[in-house]
Amino acid sequence: MSQSMLSRRRFLKITGGTILTLAGGWALNSLPQLHETAKRTDDKTEEAALGIRCLRQIITADSRSSRTIMWQSQTAQNDAEVIWRPRGSQHQSVLSAAGESFTDDAIRVYLHTAAIDGLDPNQFYEYCIRCGQAETKWLPLPVDDGGAFKMLIFPDSQSNDYSDWENLAQNAARQNPDASLFTNLGDLVDNGEDHTQWNAWFEALHGIISRLPLAPVMGNHETYNRQWKVRLPQAYRSEFVVPDNGSPIFSRYYYAFDYGDVHFCVLNTQWDETEAFQPGLLATQQQWFAKDMSQSKKKWKIVLLHKDVLTYGMRGHPERLPGISDAGRAFMPLFDTLGIDLVLSAHLHTYRNRGHIYNFQRSLHGPLYILAGVAGNVRYPGLWLRHELDQVVAPQPETDNYLTLTAAVNELRLRCFLPDGTQIDDIRLQK
Ligand SMILES: [Fe+2]
Repeated sequence: MSQSMLSRRRFLKITGGTILTLAGGWALNSLPQLHETAKRTDDKTEEAALGIRCLRQIITADSRSSRTIMWQSQTAQNDAEVIWRPRGSQHQSVLSAAGESFTDDAIRVYLHTAAIDGLDPNQFYEYCIRCGQAETKWLPLPVDDGGAFKMLIFPDSQSNDYSDWENLAQNAARQNPDASLFTNLGDLVDNGEDHTQWNAWFEALHGIISRLPLAPVMGNHETYNRQWKVRLPQAYRSEFVVPDNGSPIFSRYYYAFDYGDVHFCVLNTQWDETEAFQPGLLATQQQWFAKDMSQSKKKWKIVLLHKDVLTYGMRGHPERLPGISDAGRAFMPLFDTLGIDLVLSAHLHTYRNRGHIYNFQRSLHGPLYILAGVAGNVRYPGLWLRHELDQVVAPQPETDNYLTLTAAVNELRLRCFLPDGTQIDDIRLQK
């Protein structure tokens, strides 16, 4: 959503380390996944005792062998390390976390990053953080075994009170203890410079983001400063060390990753916002996207992006016509050409299943386009009119919702749920 329509938040840098492998035996245990709320609260208390906040797993290009761990602290923590091992094993690996100070919103914090590599997709791992003599508890480090998986999908979480976001995310995690990763489709926070909102966003994900990797998507609100002017998204880019895209200018703006038999491209629709500061985001990204997607041999191809590909009529604004958005004009022809299976967008805070669209028209084939809904407390009851391409619209007035994506060998299944678990849509793609 645009700044003027909404109303209304700041922040955070990083690098490598050294790996030390400790001897010991190997052991296999049951699938590490999400646990109950009480344990998550314990995690938070324990992490706070070590002086670490916002402990998180970030997706890497290949989750079969690698994972990025990040957290934040008020002090430098120069001796901080990440330790990981096959679950229950004494065979441990240790990586020194790289720490860097980051000042934004007039607040200085230290951001710590450790890029774990060399994981075995046939093992179940766990990890902990060590600062001096103190350690966190062991937390699950789920790796991609190459088979079927479930992903949690959250639309815009921007809020002025993040309790609804917390409620939705925690319920989704409880209802899907078998999830392997999750995404948040942009506008994570309402104001990208407001450090209190970033902290609230992370706090709401306690016990989730430390146990499952996040594949973040940048939204327009990540580019807003305290004065509601556009700026470069320093906080977002510092908070999330996502896979490299080869661009020195647009590093961490867009990226790709594999999970199971799916290739994901995470696009960045903020070229209008960044043009005055760093021109060329759209053209650079289009070239990268066409090359990256065409090179993937994965069976399924999915795109995640923030701004929707369609424009919707707005109640009370007859001048605003339904049609194809700038993002749609820029990328839908490429989606058609590259054989994209599923496109997930956000930004409008409403859930719409538009079915398959090809050459800008309803079709029996072509990408399936899902506008993912709203996950925070910024809602627009009755604002958007129905688009002729809409097939399923969430019950009105909308409350929050989330989706699950289950990717198996021959099927992608996408389901949409209200916070209490009520299912409002169920779609299967097969090939
Ligand atoms: Fe947005």
